[in-house]
Amino acid sequence: MANYVHGFDPEEQLRLKEQAEFLAPMVYKEVDFSGCRQLLEVGSGVGAQSRILLERFPDLQITCVDASAVQLAQARINLASFGDRVRFVEQDGCVLQLVERFDAAFVCWTLEHVPSPIQLLVKLKEHLQPGARVYVTEVFNSSLYVSPGFSHLQHYVEVMSNFQRMIGGNPDVGIELGNLMTEAGFSACSTRFDGFYLDARSGEKRKAVTEYWKELLKSAAPALLAEGIVTPSAVQKMEEDLEKLGKDENAIFFYQFVQAKATL
Ligand SMILES: C[S@@+](CC[C@H](N)C(=O)[O-])C[C@H]1O[C@@H](n2cnc3c(N)ncnc32)[C@H](O)[C@@H]1O
Repeated sequence: MANYVHGFDPEEQLRLKEQAEFLAPMVYKEVDFSGCRQLLEVGSGVGAQSRILLERFPDLQITCVDASAVQLAQARINLASFGDRVRFVEQDGCVLQLVERFDAAFVCWTLEHVPSPIQLLVKLKEHLQPGARVYVTEVFNSSLYVSPGFSHLQHYVEVMSNFQRMIGGNPDVGIELGNLMTEAGFSACSTRFDGFYLDARSGEKRKAVTEYWKELLKSAAPALLAEGIVTPSAVQKMEEDLEKLGKDENAIFFYQFVQAKATL
């Protein structure tokens, strides 16, 4: 877990909560766990998605699995009000070992950090009952398109993505979800794209989206600076590009993530 690009400081933990809320209209557009009772969430972080799931699906109990004790400690605080509807397990999802079998599973923004996503998905499947419903949501950084220019932003994303690959992750794992889910044995798997498309029609939305992206990209800055692969000035220029993008009502920003849905 030393290789986790976003880090575990309190600012980042708060960002995860804000991110989950900001993206919820897209991430949960087609998520339906009605009728499910026991959900396994792998890479649950500080419980930001777990909270949304617990609120949206009052019959669910969630087992939150994360490899980081720091994230789980914060998740316990964030989800304290849900009492025994939630429990916490510190394990690596790639070698997951639980006695229970679940009728629902949720994995969000986690496979991108895992050296072997297929291994995590195989383990996930082993822990599910026949008929279980599964949603996996992931990044596809190569889908980013910005215009006109914004070379500092583009460069920063490229460096960040390369760094993520270097430390064993995959910033494009989203586009591979169909293949990975199939290989892991999820036979009935569908995928959909969602994300951001800013242009002259975006109005007020533009500012919120560019601000969100600024915080997301800044969250990788401490790791990139520590490695010496970006300079403070490059971080500053990336932020300035996003500010310009936020103000130019004709500028284009396009990004897609991928969500896979499967039923066992
Ligand atoms: C970007 S965070 C996402 C957290 C949460 N899913 C959300 O959307 O807020 C990724 C989480 O995956 C966890 N993680 C990374 N690799 C893992 C692994 N092999 N097994 C379990 N958790 C892992 C990290 O500790 C981190 O909390």
